Amino acid sequence: MDAGNEAGAEAKEMVDIVSAPPDPALVERVNQLRESVRYHQHRYYLLDDPVLSDLEFDALFRELQQLEATHPELQSDDSPTVRVGGVVSDSFAKTRHPALMLSLANAFEIEALLAWRDRVKRLLPQDDLNRLAYVAEPKFDGLTVVLHYEDGRFTLGATRGNGEVGENITPNLRTVRSLPLRLVGNGAGENSTAVESAKTEVPTRLVVRGEAYVDKADFEAFNLRQNEQSARTFANPRNFAAGSLRQLDSSITATRPVKLWVYQALILEGAPMPAAHSEVLAYLSKLGLPVCPDYRRFEDADFDELVEYVTEFGERRHELPYEVDGLVIKVDSLATQARLGFTGKDPRWALAYKYAGREAVTKLLDIVINVGRTGAVTPNAVLEPVQIGGVMVGKATLHNEDYIVDLDFRIGDEVVIKRAGEVIPKVLRPLVELRDGSEQPWKMPEFCPDCGQPLVRPEGEAATYCVNSACPAQLVRSVEHFVGRGAMDIEGFGIRQAELFVEAGFIRDLADIYHLPWEKVRELEGYGDKKV
Ligand code: IVH
Repeated sequence: MDAGNEAGAEAKEMVDIVSAPPDPALVERVNQLRESVRYHQHRYYLLDDPVLSDLEFDALFRELQQLEATHPELQSDDSPTVRVGGVVSDSFAKTRHPALMLSLANAFEIEALLAWRDRVKRLLPQDDLNRLAYVAEPKFDGLTVVLHYEDGRFTLGATRGNGEVGENITPNLRTVRSLPLRLVGNGAGENSTAVESAKTEVPTRLVVRGEAYVDKADFEAFNLRQNEQSARTFANPRNFAAGSLRQLDSSITATRPVKLWVYQALILEGAPMPAAHSEVLAYLSKLGLPVCPDYRRFEDADFDELVEYVTEFGERRHELPYEVDGLVIKVDSLATQARLGFTGKDPRWALAYKYAGREAVTKLLDIVINVGRTGAVTPNAVLEPVQIGGVMVGKATLHNEDYIVDLDFRIGDEVVIKRAGEVIPKVLRPLVELRDGSEQPWKMPEFCPDCGQPLVRPEGEAATYCVNSACPAQLVRSVEHFVGRGAMDIEGFGIRQAELFVEAGFIRDLADIYHLPWEKVRELEGYGDKKV
């Protein structure tokens, strides 16, 4: 072979390397696998109706992963394999929303709901009144997100931020299983014949607003696991969802059970905008976006039914798998919405009905610690008493030292407290903007307030302990537990008696409960013959 030929052969080889067209059969197989994986993910995550076993699905997924790994030229950032995450960024870039992210006016009583309807009706011409209807849908308590689709592909996802500018959290949102990376034409995957055959138009541009959230059970399970490993826990599902989506490493987000509901189309191009909100929801759902099916439409003539529904929904909302803090009531017709417009940053066409007084703001007067039966000490907030949902609250839990330090609670702060079904209310956050400089940071005391012995926080643990096994506070808690319903269930014996008998020195360990010196007990105030 002469030199010229050699050079020619080398050049040809280089051309082969740079621009060899991928094997069409391979391209077809990869596309087929992607369609198939999307379709089965959709059935699994959105329709709750899988047709493949997990093993069968894994086989498809792995074949796709392997083909992409061995043929990087076939890689595509909307492939369903991209969901595993792995992108690390230094910080979040800012992104301007294509429309202002408005908020909602709140109502806490039925009177305010009726007043809202009256105002809506006062402002509208007869034409709109003739077809006036409303949609009531859950007010999801999560993190607001804005999602962009160009030609059906998910291209950008952002937090609400300040309403005008949000943080670009696209790589993290790509890991959310119920977020479609590609919109589909019939709600189930391009090649599917299993669902409807009628195609829905995929828009050239679509920007939607939704709420990212975590189911209550997934949140509890996560915290439980973290606790077992003495790792960081989250205060509530909403913080957990927000914390998971604001990770700099999206492979962490990929391990978190974040879900999504979409409820508004902000921009729709290349396909007709439906005439009503309820039709928008149906359309978004057909495109494969997760739309919560738990919404109801009411004609204006049936407003009394809507009012009943508000009460009924309030009673069953705790049974939903995710947290809901109210109902959003929206005028259904988009033309009527446009006619009603906005006041300030709230649309006149929508109202958030919040279930009364589950949250309140009050002053944090002090933080005291309580010693439990295992010796673990819990910081508790002493609050200026406040009514929440008809109950007076003066005390609430602050979990542990990290919770107080991370959220920067200071004595004297105005704080948000919440009663959420559980007996002990929680302190959610300080209102930093209301500080006047007189607020005092808090530190975990060094000594047990009951026995005076040093408190210990084991390395890597969130809890602090009084390790003195003779600590009277621990003994009182142990006695309370021992005589309580979950254990020996001794009638007429509770925390009061436990405190009294421990303080009097009658009980030094649990066995003493069965050897009380009755003649001495009889001398205590309120202990006559009958009671003894
Ligand atoms: S509609 C212009 N619908 O609640 C009005 N908002 O208090 C657009 N939210 O951060 C909002 N569930 O993101 C709407 N079904 C729902 C909602 C909802 C939760 C959020 C919203 C905003 C907050 C307002």
